[in-house]
Amino acid sequence: MILTIKDLTKQYHLKNNDITVLENICLTVNEHEVIAILGTSGCGKSTLLSIISSLLNYDSGTIKYKDHFNYGYMLQKDMLLPYLTVKENCLLGLRIKKQINEEKLKQLDDLLIKYHLKNYEDSYPDNLSGGMRQRVALIRTILLDPDLYLLDEPFSALDYQNKKMLLNDIKKLIDEKHQSMIIVTHDVNEAISLANRIIILSNKPAHIIKEITLDNPDIDYLTLVESYIKDEV
Ligand SMILES: Nc1ncnc2c1ncn2[C@@H]1O[C@H](COP(=O)(O)OP(=O)(O)OP(=O)(O)O)[C@@H](O)[C@H]1O
Ligand SMILES: [Mg+2]
Repeated sequence: MILTIKDLTKQYHLKNNDITVLENICLTVNEHEVIAILGTSGCGKSTLLSIISSLLNYDSGTIKYKDHFNYGYMLQKDMLLPYLTVKENCLLGLRIKKQINEEKLKQLDDLLIKYHLKNYEDSYPDNLSGGMRQRVALIRTILLDPDLYLLDEPFSALDYQNKKMLLNDIKKLIDEKHQSMIIVTHDVNEAISLANRIIILSNKPAHIIKEITLDNPDIDYLTLVESYIKDEV
């Protein structure tokens, strides 16, 4: 088990009222498991990832993590620092953890080449396209070698070819290292091609309307998932 969430509720406290965003969310993430989260814009997906990564607090419920839990969070906004170069941005997470070494620098170099960023390693984020920025943020996350990837719409700015390449890469990486992932996406095909399990959230306050385990090759999951989200996403 990587983590277990029980009856999680989250409210945002506004000036004149409180809004409940997440309600009674229960979710277990196992070792070597990919979970895709689908749900309407504004339903609370990013809020959930930020709570899991402890960036946000919650109002009630419990979250239990495995010992020495270590995550890599790629936020929906890429959060690149404008005054650091591409290379420095990629190394930021490792620098904070004091984990930069020869092996990591070699891995960085390989990733920069593979993701067509080598010529831009000394450029600043303002000079990059949205898709390039996402690839920098993804490299930063991969270098952390986390037990759990938290990816919030990581491929939204990428073209079809790059998206396909990155999807395959991440899949391979996770398989090799037996890591786990929670990915937020609006793309049902992407969710089906990556995930072992799909979680569909309802709109405000978000609760889990359906959990689908993708373990039967004879089932048409696209039609099944779409039947649940047609009124929601
Ligand atoms: N800091 C905040 N204060 C008040 N309300 C907030 C805050 N952050 C988010 N919200 C509200 O909480 C709800 C959920 O936001 P969240 O960003 O988690 O949605 P989401 O599912 O990730 O949406 P999208 O698919 O558009 O990224 C939204 O209605 C949003 O307006
Ligand atoms: Mg979001």
